[in-house]
Amino acid sequence: MNPEDTLQEARERIGACADEVALKDIEREFVGKKGLVAAMLAEIPKLEPADRKAHGQKANSLKQAILELIGERQKTFETGKLDSARRADGFDPTVPAPQARRGSLHPITQVTRELEDLFISMGYEVLDGPEVELDHYNFEALNITKDHPARDSQDTFYCDEEGSLVLRTHTSPVQIRAMEKREPPFRVVAPGRVFRQETTDASHDHTFYQMEGMVVGKDISVAHLIGTMKTLLRGIFERDLDVRLRPGHFPFVEPGFELDARCPFCQSGCSVCKRTTWIELLPCGLIHPNVLRAGGIDPEQWSGFAFGLGLSRLVMLRHAIDDVRHLLDGDIRFLEQF
Ligand code: PHE
Repeated sequence: MNPEDTLQEARERIGACADEVALKDIEREFVGKKGLVAAMLAEIPKLEPADRKAHGQKANSLKQAILELIGERQKTFETGKLDSARRADGFDPTVPAPQARRGSLHPITQVTRELEDLFISMGYEVLDGPEVELDHYNFEALNITKDHPARDSQDTFYCDEEGSLVLRTHTSPVQIRAMEKREPPFRVVAPGRVFRQETTDASHDHTFYQMEGMVVGKDISVAHLIGTMKTLLRGIFERDLDVRLRPGHFPFVEPGFELDARCPFCQSGCSVCKRTTWIELLPCGLIHPNVLRAGGIDPEQWSGFAFGLGLSRLVMLRHAIDDVRHLLDGDIRFLEQF
Protein backbone atom coordinates (compact mmCIF):
# COMPACT_ATOMS: atom_id res chain seq x y z
CA MET A 1 0.00 0.00 0.00
CA ASN A 2 1.36 3.46 -0.76
CA PRO A 3 1.85 5.92 2.08
CA GLU A 4 -1.09 8.13 1.10
CA ASP A 5 -3.50 5.19 1.24
CA THR A 6 -2.03 3.95 4.49
CA LEU A 7 -2.49 7.38 6.04
CA GLN A 8 -6.07 7.53 4.76
CA GLU A 9 -6.87 4.14 6.24
CA ALA A 10 -5.28 5.08 9.55
CA ARG A 11 -7.29 8.31 9.67
CA GLU A 12 -10.57 6.47 9.13
CA ARG A 13 -9.89 3.78 11.69
CA ILE A 14 -8.63 6.18 14.33
CA GLY A 15 -11.71 8.35 13.86
CA ALA A 16 -14.02 5.36 14.17
CA CYS A 17 -12.34 3.53 17.05
CA ALA A 18 -14.47 3.13 20.15
CA ASP A 19 -12.07 3.43 23.08
CA GLU A 20 -8.47 3.71 24.23
CA VAL A 21 -7.88 -0.04 23.99
CA ALA A 22 -8.88 -0.06 20.33
CA LEU A 23 -6.71 2.99 19.75
CA LYS A 24 -3.72 1.18 21.25
CA ASP A 25 -4.28 -1.70 18.86
CA ILE A 26 -4.32 0.64 15.89
CA GLU A 27 -1.14 2.28 17.14
CA ARG A 28 0.57 -1.09 17.34
CA GLU A 29 -0.63 -2.13 13.90
CA PHE A 30 0.59 1.01 12.13
CA VAL A 31 3.55 2.39 14.04
CA GLY A 32 4.49 -0.40 16.46
CA LYS A 33 7.77 -2.31 16.35
CA LYS A 34 6.26 -4.84 13.93
CA GLY A 35 3.81 -2.45 12.30
CA LEU A 36 3.36 -1.17 8.77
CA VAL A 37 5.81 1.69 9.05
CA ALA A 38 8.47 -0.63 10.46
CA ALA A 39 7.90 -2.92 7.48
CA MET A 40 8.40 0.01 5.12
CA LEU A 41 11.67 0.88 6.81
CA ALA A 42 12.79 -2.76 6.60
CA GLU A 43 12.51 -2.63 2.83
CA ILE A 44 15.14 0.08 2.51
CA PRO A 45 18.20 -2.22 2.12
CA LYS A 46 16.53 -3.91 -0.86
CA LEU A 47 16.08 -0.62 -2.76
CA GLU A 48 18.38 1.07 -5.22
CA PRO A 49 20.73 3.30 -3.22
CA ALA A 50 19.37 6.40 -5.01
CA ASP A 51 15.82 5.67 -3.80
CA ARG A 52 16.61 4.87 -0.21
CA LYS A 53 16.62 8.38 1.22
CA ALA A 54 13.26 9.38 -0.24
CA HIS A 55 11.68 6.14 0.89
CA GLY A 56 12.96 6.57 4.44
CA GLN A 57 11.68 10.14 4.59
CA LYS A 58 8.23 9.06 3.41
CA ALA A 59 8.05 6.33 6.02
CA ASN A 60 9.04 8.72 8.77
CA SER A 61 6.62 11.45 7.85
CA LEU A 62 3.88 8.84 7.62
CA LYS A 63 4.75 7.71 11.13
CA GLN A 64 4.65 11.32 12.42
CA ALA A 65 1.29 11.95 10.80
CA ILE A 66 -0.24 8.79 12.27
CA LEU A 67 1.14 9.53 15.73
CA GLU A 68 -0.38 13.00 15.59
CA LEU A 69 -3.80 11.59 14.68
CA ILE A 70 -3.53 9.11 17.56
CA GLY A 71 -2.53 11.88 19.98
CA GLU A 72 -5.53 13.99 19.03
CA ARG A 73 -7.95 11.08 19.35
CA GLN A 74 -6.44 10.24 22.75
CA LYS A 75 -7.24 13.79 23.94
CA THR A 76 -10.86 13.44 22.91
CA PHE A 77 -11.11 10.28 25.05
CA GLU A 78 -9.64 12.14 28.02
CA THR A 79 -11.97 15.12 27.80
CA GLY A 80 -14.81 12.67 27.40
CA LYS A 81 -13.83 11.06 30.70
CA LEU A 82 -13.67 14.45 32.42
CA ASP A 83 -17.09 15.40 31.10
CA SER A 84 -18.71 12.25 32.42
CA ALA A 85 -16.91 12.73 35.76
CA ARG A 86 -18.46 16.18 36.28
CA ARG A 87 -21.55 15.14 38.07
CA ALA A 88 -24.97 16.67 37.92
CA ASP A 89 -24.82 17.61 41.61
CA GLY A 90 -22.00 20.05 40.84
CA PHE A 91 -19.22 17.98 42.37
CA ASP A 92 -16.26 18.26 40.04
CA PRO A 93 -13.38 15.88 40.74
CA THR A 94 -11.30 17.58 38.07
CA VAL A 95 -10.87 20.82 40.03
CA PRO A 96 -7.26 20.92 41.33
CA ALA A 97 -6.94 20.37 45.10
CA PRO A 98 -5.98 23.43 47.15
CA GLN A 99 -2.22 23.56 47.70
CA ALA A 100 -1.30 22.34 51.17
CA ARG A 101 0.73 24.90 53.11
CA ARG A 102 4.25 23.66 53.69
CA GLY A 103 6.04 24.35 56.91
CA SER A 104 9.76 25.00 57.22
CA LEU A 105 12.49 24.45 59.76
CA HIS A 106 12.87 27.10 62.44
CA PRO A 107 15.95 29.26 61.77
CA ILE A 108 17.45 28.07 65.07
CA THR A 109 17.04 24.45 63.94
CA GLN A 110 18.64 25.35 60.62
CA VAL A 111 21.82 26.83 62.16
CA THR A 112 21.99 24.10 64.77
CA ARG A 113 21.99 21.45 62.07
CA GLU A 114 24.55 23.28 59.96
CA LEU A 115 26.89 23.70 62.90
CA GLU A 116 26.42 20.11 64.00
CA ASP A 117 27.46 18.98 60.52
CA LEU A 118 30.46 21.29 60.60
CA PHE A 119 31.64 20.05 63.99
CA ILE A 120 30.99 16.42 63.12
CA SER A 121 33.24 16.94 60.08
CA MET A 122 35.95 18.05 62.52
CA GLY A 123 35.59 14.91 64.61
CA TYR A 124 33.26 16.23 67.32
CA GLU A 125 30.49 14.32 69.00
CA VAL A 126 27.10 16.04 69.42
CA LEU A 127 25.74 15.83 72.96
CA ASP A 128 22.48 16.63 74.68
CA GLY A 129 21.98 17.54 78.31
CA PRO A 130 19.07 18.06 80.71
CA GLU A 131 17.35 21.45 80.72
CA VAL A 132 16.40 20.96 84.37
CA GLU A 133 19.85 20.67 85.88
CA LEU A 134 21.43 20.10 89.28
CA ASP A 135 23.06 23.12 90.88
CA HIS A 136 26.16 20.95 91.02
CA TYR A 137 26.50 20.76 87.23
CA ASN A 138 25.22 24.21 86.41
CA PHE A 139 27.42 26.00 88.98
CA GLU A 140 29.51 24.12 91.55
CA ALA A 141 31.48 21.83 89.26
CA LEU A 142 32.08 24.78 86.95
CA ASN A 143 34.00 26.56 89.68
CA ILE A 144 31.06 28.82 90.51
CA THR A 145 30.70 28.39 94.27
CA LYS A 146 27.61 29.31 96.29
CA ASP A 147 28.88 32.77 97.15
CA HIS A 148 30.39 33.46 93.74
CA PRO A 149 29.28 36.80 92.28
CA ALA A 150 28.94 35.17 88.84
CA ARG A 151 25.71 33.66 90.08
CA ASP A 152 24.20 37.12 90.06
CA SER A 153 25.02 37.58 86.40
CA GLN A 154 23.12 34.46 85.52
CA ASP A 155 19.82 35.10 87.20
CA THR A 156 18.49 31.69 87.77
CA PHE A 157 15.08 30.04 87.73
CA TYR A 158 15.08 27.71 90.73
CA CYS A 159 12.93 24.62 90.59
CA ASP A 160 12.82 23.61 94.26
CA GLU A 161 12.91 25.07 97.78
CA GLU A 162 16.48 24.00 98.54
CA GLY A 163 17.80 25.47 95.31
CA SER A 164 19.51 22.29 94.18
CA LEU A 165 17.52 22.04 90.96
CA VAL A 166 17.63 24.82 88.38
CA LEU A 167 16.72 25.52 84.78
CA ARG A 168 20.19 25.48 83.29
CA THR A 169 21.47 29.01 82.72
CA HIS A 170 23.98 27.91 80.07
CA THR A 171 25.05 24.78 78.18
CA SER A 172 28.32 24.55 80.16
CA PRO A 173 27.00 21.86 82.57
CA VAL A 174 27.24 19.48 79.61
CA GLN A 175 31.03 19.94 79.86
CA ILE A 176 31.03 18.19 83.24
CA ARG A 177 28.63 15.49 82.11
CA ALA A 178 30.80 14.87 79.05
CA MET A 179 33.99 14.53 81.11
CA GLU A 180 32.39 12.15 83.57
CA LYS A 181 31.56 9.69 80.80
CA ARG A 182 34.71 9.96 78.65
CA GLU A 183 38.41 9.40 78.69
CA PRO A 184 40.44 12.15 77.03
CA PRO A 185 41.16 13.01 74.29
CA PHE A 186 37.68 14.00 73.06
CA ARG A 187 35.79 16.78 71.34
CA VAL A 188 32.14 17.54 71.92
CA VAL A 189 29.53 20.15 71.10
CA ALA A 190 26.23 20.50 72.93
CA PRO A 191 23.51 22.70 71.43
CA GLY A 192 20.39 23.48 73.41
CA ARG A 193 17.99 25.75 75.25
CA VAL A 194 19.04 27.76 78.26
CA PHE A 195 17.04 29.92 80.65
CA ARG A 196 17.59 33.11 82.62
CA GLN A 197 15.28 35.05 84.84
CA GLU A 198 15.48 38.39 83.09
CA THR A 199 13.32 41.28 82.14
CA THR A 200 12.78 40.64 78.48
CA ASP A 201 13.51 43.21 75.82
CA ALA A 202 14.64 43.22 72.20
CA SER A 203 17.99 41.68 73.08
CA HIS A 204 17.09 39.55 76.14
CA ASP A 205 14.72 36.64 76.43
CA HIS A 206 14.17 34.25 79.33
CA THR A 207 14.79 31.33 76.95
CA PHE A 208 17.46 31.25 74.29
CA TYR A 209 19.86 28.89 72.55
CA GLN A 210 23.56 28.19 72.95
CA MET A 211 26.05 25.71 71.59
CA GLU A 212 28.75 24.60 73.97
CA GLY A 213 32.02 23.34 72.59
CA MET A 214 34.75 21.48 74.45
CA VAL A 215 38.01 19.88 73.44
CA VAL A 216 40.24 17.97 75.86
CA GLY A 217 43.60 16.57 74.82
CA LYS A 218 47.37 16.73 75.24
CA ASP A 219 48.80 20.26 75.16
CA ILE A 220 45.64 21.93 73.89
CA SER A 221 46.38 25.64 73.67
CA VAL A 222 44.87 28.97 72.70
CA ALA A 223 46.26 28.39 69.18
CA HIS A 224 43.96 25.37 68.78
CA LEU A 225 41.07 27.46 70.04
CA ILE A 226 41.74 30.24 67.54
CA GLY A 227 42.18 27.79 64.66
CA THR A 228 38.90 26.10 65.49
CA MET A 229 37.07 29.42 65.77
CA LYS A 230 38.37 30.49 62.35
CA THR A 231 37.07 27.26 60.84
CA LEU A 232 33.75 27.89 62.57
CA LEU A 233 33.58 31.40 61.08
CA ARG A 234 34.34 30.05 57.63
CA GLY A 235 31.46 27.61 58.09
CA ILE A 236 29.04 30.33 59.16
CA PHE A 237 29.97 33.21 56.88
CA GLU A 238 31.57 31.25 54.03
CA ARG A 239 34.82 33.20 54.04
CA ASP A 240 37.89 33.89 56.14
CA LEU A 241 37.48 36.54 58.81
CA ASP A 242 40.13 37.92 61.14
CA VAL A 243 39.57 37.39 64.83
CA ARG A 244 40.81 39.05 67.98
CA LEU A 245 40.72 38.04 71.63
CA ARG A 246 39.84 40.36 74.47
CA PRO A 247 40.14 39.27 78.08
CA GLY A 248 36.85 37.95 79.46
CA HIS A 249 36.02 36.51 82.85
CA PHE A 250 34.27 33.22 83.45
CA PRO A 251 35.09 31.12 86.50
CA PHE A 252 35.33 27.91 84.46
CA VAL A 253 38.03 29.11 82.05
CA GLU A 254 41.50 30.48 82.65
CA PRO A 255 42.53 32.44 80.71
CA GLY A 256 39.07 33.49 79.53
CA PHE A 257 38.36 35.54 76.41
CA GLU A 258 35.75 37.30 74.41
CA LEU A 259 36.38 36.41 70.79
CA ASP A 260 35.52 39.04 68.18
CA ALA A 261 35.45 38.59 64.43
CA ARG A 262 35.78 41.19 61.69
CA CYS A 263 32.31 42.35 60.74
CA PRO A 264 31.22 40.19 57.79
CA PHE A 265 28.77 42.86 56.61
CA CYS A 266 30.98 45.91 56.08
CA GLN A 267 34.50 47.24 55.73
CA SER A 268 34.30 50.56 57.48
CA GLY A 269 31.59 50.22 60.10
CA CYS A 270 27.85 49.56 59.92
CA SER A 271 24.89 49.27 62.26
CA VAL A 272 25.50 45.55 62.89
CA CYS A 273 29.03 46.13 64.25
CA LYS A 274 28.00 49.45 65.77
CA ARG A 275 30.61 51.23 63.61
CA THR A 276 33.49 49.28 65.19
CA THR A 277 34.10 46.78 62.29
CA TRP A 278 34.21 44.01 64.94
CA ILE A 279 31.39 41.77 66.09
CA GLU A 280 31.37 39.90 69.38
CA LEU A 281 31.26 36.27 68.41
CA LEU A 282 31.57 34.24 71.59
CA PRO A 283 33.11 33.81 75.01
CA CYS A 284 35.74 31.09 75.32
CA GLY A 285 38.94 30.08 77.08
CA LEU A 286 41.14 27.30 78.34
CA ILE A 287 39.36 25.00 80.75
CA HIS A 288 40.10 25.83 84.38
CA PRO A 289 42.02 23.07 86.20
CA ASN A 290 39.31 22.94 88.88
CA VAL A 291 36.74 22.14 86.20
CA LEU A 292 38.84 19.35 84.70
CA ARG A 293 39.26 17.96 88.19
CA ALA A 294 35.50 18.17 88.85
CA GLY A 295 35.01 16.08 85.70
CA GLY A 296 37.52 13.48 86.89
CA ILE A 297 40.35 14.55 84.55
CA ASP A 298 43.90 15.20 85.72
CA PRO A 299 44.85 18.80 84.79
CA GLU A 300 48.55 17.90 85.06
CA GLN A 301 48.16 15.57 82.11
CA TRP A 302 45.37 17.07 80.04
CA SER A 303 44.27 20.50 78.97
CA GLY A 304 41.43 21.81 76.87
CA PHE A 305 39.43 24.71 75.54
CA ALA A 306 35.73 25.52 75.71
CA PHE A 307 33.46 28.02 74.05
CA GLY A 308 29.84 29.07 74.37
CA LEU A 309 28.32 30.13 71.07
CA GLY A 310 25.09 32.11 71.32
CA LEU A 311 22.90 30.49 68.68
CA SER A 312 20.02 32.93 69.10
CA ARG A 313 22.38 35.84 68.56
CA LEU A 314 23.93 34.16 65.57
CA VAL A 315 20.55 33.65 63.93
CA MET A 316 19.72 37.30 64.57
CA LEU A 317 22.97 38.35 62.93
CA ARG A 318 22.48 36.09 59.97
CA HIS A 319 18.92 37.17 59.18
CA ALA A 320 19.12 40.74 60.51
CA ILE A 321 16.41 40.04 63.09
CA ASP A 322 16.01 42.98 65.44
CA ASP A 323 14.18 41.37 68.35
CA VAL A 324 15.15 38.03 69.94
CA ARG A 325 11.60 37.50 71.13
CA HIS A 326 10.52 36.80 67.54
CA LEU A 327 12.41 33.52 67.78
CA LEU A 328 10.01 32.06 70.32
CA ASP A 329 6.79 33.94 69.54
CA GLY A 330 5.54 31.32 67.11
CA ASP A 331 4.14 34.10 64.92
CA ILE A 332 3.44 32.48 61.58
CA ARG A 333 4.20 35.68 59.66
CA PHE A 334 7.71 35.59 61.08
CA LEU A 335 8.26 31.85 60.67
CA GLU A 336 7.00 31.76 57.11
CA GLN A 337 10.03 33.77 56.03
CA PHE A 338 12.48 30.92 56.57
N1 PHE B 1 28.69 29.49 79.70
C1 PHE B 1 29.05 30.86 79.41
C2 PHE B 1 27.78 31.71 79.39
O1 PHE B 1 26.75 31.25 79.08
C3 PHE B 1 29.75 30.98 78.11
C4 PHE B 1 31.09 30.28 78.05
C5 PHE B 1 31.18 28.96 77.66
C6 PHE B 1 32.25 30.97 78.36
C7 PHE B 1 32.41 28.35 77.59
C8 PHE B 1 33.47 30.37 78.30
C9 PHE B 1 33.55 29.04 77.91
O2 PHE B 1 27.80 32.87 79.64
